[in-house]
Amino acid sequence: MPYSLSVNGQVHLVEDEAQTPLLWVLRDTLKMTGTKYGCGVGQCGACTVHVDGQPTRSCSLPLIAVAESEITTIEGMSGAETRAVQDAWVRHDVPQCGFCQSGQIMSAVALLRANPAPDDRDIDTSMSGNICRCGTYNRIRAAIRDAAQSLP
Ligand code: FES
Ligand code: FES
Repeated sequence: MPYSLSVNGQVHLVEDEAQTPLLWVLRDTLKMTGTKYGCGVGQCGACTVHVDGQPTRSCSLPLIAVAESEITTIEGMSGAETRAVQDAWVRHDVPQCGFCQSGQIMSAVALLRANPAPDDRDIDTSMSGNICRCGTYNRIRAAIRDAAQSLP
């Protein structure tokens, strides 16, 4: 039985198994490869998407659990917080290899939507699930502070 999946405002009928992780539905079936596979066990945050607005790890989320949800991937991000984060990421030259960065941006935007003026503790708490093997943490923190200040 196909599942109806709403991704970035568009409904897709997908034929994957009920237990297929959302990450693989996005990457392999829908060819949205902006969401990355890091660990596959919910530990690194590379696979973060928004499910009904909440940052969520798509590698550990079966398709059947999200069939009624609105999913947003890095390809579908928009709005003031997204623009503020993108601009700050460029100003601070945040990425190194870039592999973790779509997950980092998904978490950063979710943080600013929930809390437009986060302090360092808020930032560290919200971003603690996103691992960066290149160690860009200081630039990420600075960019989020900068993005927050640039919000209207
Ligand atoms: S790939 Fe999902 S948390 Fe690492
Ligand atoms: S920029 Fe390389 S893993 Fe984060």
